[in-house]
Amino acid sequence: MSSGATPTFAFEPSAHIVAADERAKRLVNPGFGRVFTDHMALIRYSEEKGWHDAKITAREPVAMDPASSVLHYAQEIFEGLKAYRRPEGGAALFRPDANARRFNASARRMAMPDLPEELFLESIRALVRTEKAWIPDNEDGALYLRPFMFASEVFLGVKPSAEYLYMVIASSVGAYFKGGAPSVSLWVTREYTRAAPGGTGAAKCGGNYATSLIAQAEATRNGCDQVVFLDAVERRWVEELGGMNIFFVFDDGTMVTPPLTGTILPGITRDSLLTLARDMGITVREEPYSIEQWRADAESGRLTEAFACGTAAVVTPIGSVKSAEGQFTIGGQSAGPITQRLRTALVDIQRGNAPDPHGWVEQVA
Ligand code: PLP
Ligand code: COI
Repeated sequence: MSSGATPTFAFEPSAHIVAADERAKRLVNPGFGRVFTDHMALIRYSEEKGWHDAKITAREPVAMDPASSVLHYAQEIFEGLKAYRRPEGGAALFRPDANARRFNASARRMAMPDLPEELFLESIRALVRTEKAWIPDNEDGALYLRPFMFASEVFLGVKPSAEYLYMVIASSVGAYFKGGAPSVSLWVTREYTRAAPGGTGAAKCGGNYATSLIAQAEATRNGCDQVVFLDAVERRWVEELGGMNIFFVFDDGTMVTPPLTGTILPGITRDSLLTLARDMGITVREEPYSIEQWRADAESGRLTEAFACGTAAVVTPIGSVKSAEGQFTIGGQSAGPITQRLRTALVDIQRGNAPDPHGWVEQVA
């Protein structure tokens, strides 16, 4: 199954397909991550057989032995990407090959087996072809695909599992941040860090999100939308948000984003925006930026815009930043001109409303 030919997925249709009128109701205002489609992709792995039994099957609960090692030692990774409805009616993916590569980078960090890229890609294509009716037909709508892999060996010894399940589920989504506010507010946690050098910060493993939840709860308690993490060593360099990367825009038209030093997730949106900004002639530096500098630049007006970016969040303006030391605001607390321009350029390519000069879009249905 890991040879060069395009892998084939058996199809086991669900016996409980949601009726078209009910599906239409669920797609009106789906929110994020609550509306799921009828099917999922599934592939099994064992040390003896390698990857086997690839199928598209009914989305249903997974029976697990209580000693399955993921439940104890959290050997789990995931990805997130979207399928967009094309203007002419089909469906397209944005840079799925980049997600396939990052999935394997995460797998290696978590001592899990590589999934051949073609298997990852074909699992997504096959699921999107099956579920394209679930792509909402509205401005922010997309089918959010969540590939994931977890340790399924029944064993309590601490070692890499000998068995894994890889699955892809699909969720009809709208905007990640509800309420349609023009910007989001951030809480800078001083108590908690997300990732240390040598740790798992660059891997997309569930454990990173588990440890972020207490900091996100702190943000919510302080009336903020998202938490921003500082580096674990000096506790002053801005790293990223709980589920997004971050960019800063200055009054001389240049931009800064934190560098990929192994403690932040190498976002595909981040990488795409670096390319689009450079296409526009904008100078972007990948360099450390401190919380003190951020406050000083926001207060002096040198910093004119800041935004968060990711698959779920797309490009979201940051309006205010709060911490135990106080609060500061950024620009007009709404999308500034560069944020807006980059967001439009990205979304137009993703949704097929503009040419795709970098070959990022793959039409699948
Ligand atoms: N950083 C974190 C911690 C994330 O969870 C995400 C979302 O996947 C990102 C950054 C942005 O990554 P991407 O643009 O690939 O979605
Ligand atoms: C994504 O954007 O795909 C993520 O994983 C972020 C998460 C907060 C939904």
